[in-house]
Amino acid sequence: MFELVQDTVNYIKDKTNFSPEYGIILGSGLGNFTEDITIEFTLPYSEIPNFPVSTVHGHKGALIFGAIGDKKVMAMAGRFHFYEGYDMKQVTFPVRVMKHLGISKLIVSNASGGVNSDYEVGSVVIIKDHINMFPEHPLRGKNDERFGPRFLNMNEAYNKSMIAKAKAIAKENNITVFDGVYLGLQGPTFETFAEYKMVKILGADCVGMSTVPEVIVARHMDIECFGLSVITDMGDVETAMEDVSHEEVLKAAAKAEPHVRKLIRELIMQF
Ligand code: HPA
Repeated sequence: MFELVQDTVNYIKDKTNFSPEYGIILGSGLGNFTEDITIEFTLPYSEIPNFPVSTVHGHKGALIFGAIGDKKVMAMAGRFHFYEGYDMKQVTFPVRVMKHLGISKLIVSNASGGVNSDYEVGSVVIIKDHINMFPEHPLRGKNDERFGPRFLNMNEAYNKSMIAKAKAIAKENNITVFDGVYLGLQGPTFETFAEYKMVKILGADCVGMSTVPEVIVARHMDIECFGLSVITDMGDVETAMEDVSHEEVLKAAAKAEPHVRKLIRELIMQF
C-alpha cells in the first residue's frame, strides 16, 4: 500500500508541482464548493493510477488543485463510499495520497440524518466527535509505521482549535451552527425508525454513511481534521419523520450550501 500511494503521488507530482496545505472532501450536494477555489489544475479520478472511480449521482469525481485566498488546497469532488462496494483501504486511499502530497489539515463535509430534536432540515453541524459503527475498520491488518502507529489515540479526532475558529466565524457571519456527534453506518439504506432511535440512544446527533473512515485514516497520519455536516432529513421519531430520498438529501444540502461554503472558505483563510 505504501508503494501504491507513492506511485500515485509521483504520477500527480509529474502532472503538477503543487504542494497543498489543506485537503477538502466534498460531500453530497456540496460539490459546488469548487467554485470557491481558484483552480490551477483538475485531475479526473479516472486518470489517476490506483484510484477507485466514483459511481454516485451528484459526485463529480476529480481532484482539484488550487487556492483559497493565499492557502493552497486540494479538493476531492466526490468521495468513495463503503456502500459502493469498495473496501476501507480503497475508501481511504485518497486521504493517504493527500497526506503524501503535503496536506496537514483535512476538511470534510457530508449530508446526514438528524436525530437531535434541536436540528431541522438544513441545519449546519460542526462535527465534534464521531462513533464508528462501520463493519470494517480502515486500519485493520498489518500496520505500516511509515503511515502511523498501530494503536491510534482518537481523543481529538476533530481539531478543537479549528472547531473554535469555525464557531467564531459562524458568529461573525450570523450563521447558526450546532455541534454534534456523527455516527457512521455503512448504508446504503437510510435508517429505519428503530435504527434512528438506536443512533440517538448511542449518543449521536446525526447519522451518515461517510467521513468516519477518512477521519480515522487522516488521524493515523497526524492530519488535523475538521468536519461539517448538513442535516438533510430528520430521523427523530419524537418530532418529524420526513420521507427521505437521495433527491431530498441533495436538495436540502444545496439549500445550506452558501453557509457551508462561507464557513469552509473563511476557516481555510483564517486558520
Ligand atoms: N441516514 C444516513 N445517511 C444519510 C442520511 C440519513 O438519514 N441523510 C443523509 N445521509
